[in-house]
Amino acid sequence: MLQDMQKGKNSAIIVAAGSGSRFGTEIPKQFLSLNGVEILSLSVHSFLTHPAIDEVIVVASAAFVDGVKSRYPECQVVLGGSTRQDSVFNGLNACSKDTEIVLVHDAARPLIPKRIIDACLEKLVDFDGVAPAIMPADSMVRIEADGFSNLHRGDLRIVQTPQCFKADVLMNAHTRGITDTDEMGLVKQAIPTARLGFVEGVTASMKITSAADLEMIRFYLKSYQTNSQENR
Ligand code: CTP
Ligand code: MG
Repeated sequence: MLQDMQKGKNSAIIVAAGSGSRFGTEIPKQFLSLNGVEILSLSVHSFLTHPAIDEVIVVASAAFVDGVKSRYPECQVVLGGSTRQDSVFNGLNACSKDTEIVLVHDAARPLIPKRIIDACLEKLVDFDGVAPAIMPADSMVRIEADGFSNLHRGDLRIVQTPQCFKADVLMNAHTRGITDTDEMGLVKQAIPTARLGFVEGVTASMKITSAADLEMIRFYLKSYQTNSQENR
């Protein structure tokens, strides 16, 4: 329940400092327009309007930081780094001193239902880190030198964002000289005793990686906008 949420300051960090090399456009994917709005604006709006979020920090690369500052005056905007993890770290350092909870979100993942943020914050009462995850729909295999092995699909999850943590735990994990592609992986490696858990994600929270993903997002956005906030 909402009343079980943490009472301290909750800060959202939206990482938008990537170049989108796999997507392939000159302007990084998070700054492209989708149905007349900038892709970044969708996630910014979700966090700015969430009643439990106290501040939103957007991390952008040098070429885009000034533009982001002028388009999102309600957010704090800071310079990113050369890896996603570096960008997250810069965002962490920009959080308020009294931040207790941080929610790290990919700008390339524009659709984030309010109920997913709610579920993460609720579960975080009893955990150090929580992220949404979905079950893969397809059969999964691991490619090996001499063939492949089957992986049991029921044991696998696709991990999404926002990845939400007690701020001191995530900051601690960042000081151990360990690298990973996401915060759940980083914290698990850096602090094996950390209590980490997942909530059920939604397919619509997919990340835009290649150009074809944009068409999927366009489709999801249509149903997302026709549903009320409560039904999302
Ligand atoms: N990101 C970031 N700083 C980086 C790299 C990535 O803030 N140095 C952000 C991206 O902007 C994106 C999120 O991390 O919102 C997830 O990364 P990904 O989907 O890999 O985006 P890109 O790194 O931009 O794309 P690519 O890997 O294809 O270059
Ligand atoms: Mg990348």
